[in-house]
Amino acid sequence: MGKHWADFQYEIYLNGMTGAVPRLPTDLTRLEQLTEQRLGPGPVGYVAGSAGDGSTARANRAALQRRRIVPRMLRDVHERDLSVEVLGRSLPAPMALAPVGVLSIMHPDAEIAAARAAAAQGVPFTLSSASSTPMEQVAEAMGDAERWFQLYWAKDPEVARSFLGRAKASGFSVLVVTLDTPMLAWRPRDLDQAYLPFLHGVGTANYFTDPAFRAGLAKPVHEDPNAAVMHFVGMFSDPAKTWPDLAFLREHWDGPIVLKGILHPDDARAAADAGMDGVVVSNHGGRQVAGSIGAADALPRVVEAVGDRLTVLFDSGIRTGDDIFKALALGAKAALVGRPYAYGLGLDGQAGVEHVIRCLLAELDLTLALSGHAGPTTVGPTDLIEESA
Ligand SMILES: Cc1cc2nc3c(=O)[nH]c(=O)nc-3n(C[C@H](O)[C@H](O)[C@H](O)COP(=O)(O)O)c2cc1C
Repeated sequence: MGKHWADFQYEIYLNGMTGAVPRLPTDLTRLEQLTEQRLGPGPVGYVAGSAGDGSTARANRAALQRRRIVPRMLRDVHERDLSVEVLGRSLPAPMALAPVGVLSIMHPDAEIAAARAAAAQGVPFTLSSASSTPMEQVAEAMGDAERWFQLYWAKDPEVARSFLGRAKASGFSVLVVTLDTPMLAWRPRDLDQAYLPFLHGVGTANYFTDPAFRAGLAKPVHEDPNAAVMHFVGMFSDPAKTWPDLAFLREHWDGPIVLKGILHPDDARAAADAGMDGVVVSNHGGRQVAGSIGAADALPRVVEAVGDRLTVLFDSGIRTGDDIFKALALGAKAALVGRPYAYGLGLDGQAGVEHVIRCLLAELDLTLALSGHAGPTTVGPTDLIEESA
């Protein structure tokens, strides 16, 4: 028998006997508005904002909401187990924290708090290349807990190679390579405030501590921080990359490699042909291409194309436990969660992130049970119907 995540609800009700109520809402769709009220406009705009007029972020929500669960009855859901095998790793539930950069704009404890929360709940933490804390410090805070590293594939191969070596040495098991951000998108909420944390040296910690990056600077970072920032801007990503370049990653990373930002089935096939282990069907939470397909609409076609060859993961738009159920039903092996945990961090530090993880998994556990499933592996397309758009 696995852990019954649903028991979190009894914990809340029992604590209520002493008059205590949860510090944050248990309906996680309310976190965005609370964050808007409590945090500064720059950081909130950066986290909540999307590309263009926000149409892709709305499409992500619509694609999930349009799909409705059809619960089944009398199926013995007394004992449940949410654990799954993903990319050769045993996870307690089909969920991981997505890579979210510059978390220090949300809370001074930043990635350390989020990573500790993930470790405390046994959920993988994916560290962004653009974190505000160097990867070695995050690793140290996590002990033996499961951690994945997200690569922004630097233009300078020596820097990319150095990042991979450091991540490996720091115990990151899965490499998540983000392909959808060869350049920053048109993001009006940031543009209107002229807010870009990287220009202030926030979110550059992995670069500024990197020997290969520093070798490209005329002066040490502290002597000329502006030059260091400009060096970062010129190299953090490389729009000239093409599919054959993936061989470089295979050569320098011996663990699982997952390509993040895949939406087209042909790209998923190309990932399989290139010897990758998985893909994350994702549109970066609607932050890159406005007017793009909702991620959950892209998911079934990718699963159909490569589900038997690759591990298909999903993100973009997950806000609740039933959203995770729907992603599983559409063929994802696990879901990544982005903004909800960033809001939890901003509102209540490590405890806020743990709250978000526990709410999501309690709600997923209950949704599974109340829909007739004792675990994630029996969920499939017949558990959903799609309402007409
Ligand atoms: C503030 C913010 C920063 C992000 N930074 C990164 C990043 O550094 N690397 C990356 O691959 N994805 C990044 N993402 C995208 C997330 O990994 C994920 O794809 C997205 O948040 C999922 O959508 P959701 O926010 O609707 O859950 C970021 C997202 C947000 C909201």
